Amino acid sequence: MVKVKFHGHAAIEIKGTGEDILIDPFITGNPQATVKAEELEPTMILVSHGHGDHLGDAVSISKRTGATVHTNFEIANYIGKKGGNAHPMHIGGGMNFSWGRVQLTNALHGSTIDEDGESIPAGNPVGFIVNIDGKTIYFAGDTGLFGDMELLGKRFDIDLAILPIGDNFTMGIDDAAYAADLLKAKKVLPIHYNTFPVIEQDPEEFAEKVGERAVILKPGEEMEI
Ligand code: NI
Ligand code: MN
Repeated sequence: MVKVKFHGHAAIEIKGTGEDILIDPFITGNPQATVKAEELEPTMILVSHGHGDHLGDAVSISKRTGATVHTNFEIANYIGKKGGNAHPMHIGGGMNFSWGRVQLTNALHGSTIDEDGESIPAGNPVGFIVNIDGKTIYFAGDTGLFGDMELLGKRFDIDLAILPIGDNFTMGIDDAAYAADLLKAKKVLPIHYNTFPVIEQDPEEFAEKVGERAVILKPGEEMEI
């Protein structure tokens, strides 16, 4: 059994038998978070792109726990320089583990790390296909709708798609509902909404559009797949 916990915004924790994977650990400064970064004990961290609401606490959690951050080449170099533990990957590439596989996908977005008034290029943004304990989870990252989501739906048997619905920076409700169809996802979890005024959305409206596939989690809640 795989547990998927929502920590608010785009922070997701996937717990399998052999790994505790924390994705986009924006906890400090996340108005939706119900935990403190110091309370999380992941064994692996995934970061989709460099923006602060995704890179978040990745460096400090990696330093404290020793968890390896799997992310694109450019962000992995940054994390390494900051003293974190990172493994560089890139779009289309995957890695096998005893419990499954992590593969990077395309995402249509930007990626910079904004620090001390400077904007550091942080490679191309990515999404993740996580296969864990026989379940397949697609974490889209920050992205607009793109046609190759149909390819992902053909290539992978997706048990759960985790999709942004906030609009403005990413897909909104209508495009995310369309994406759910392209992906042929069995279940769909909306994220990246209501954290800030500019991405206010009603997840129930999304649930009406995708029907019984929808799973709405409040920050701090988890589901099983
Ligand atoms: Ni972003
Ligand atoms: Mn974002």
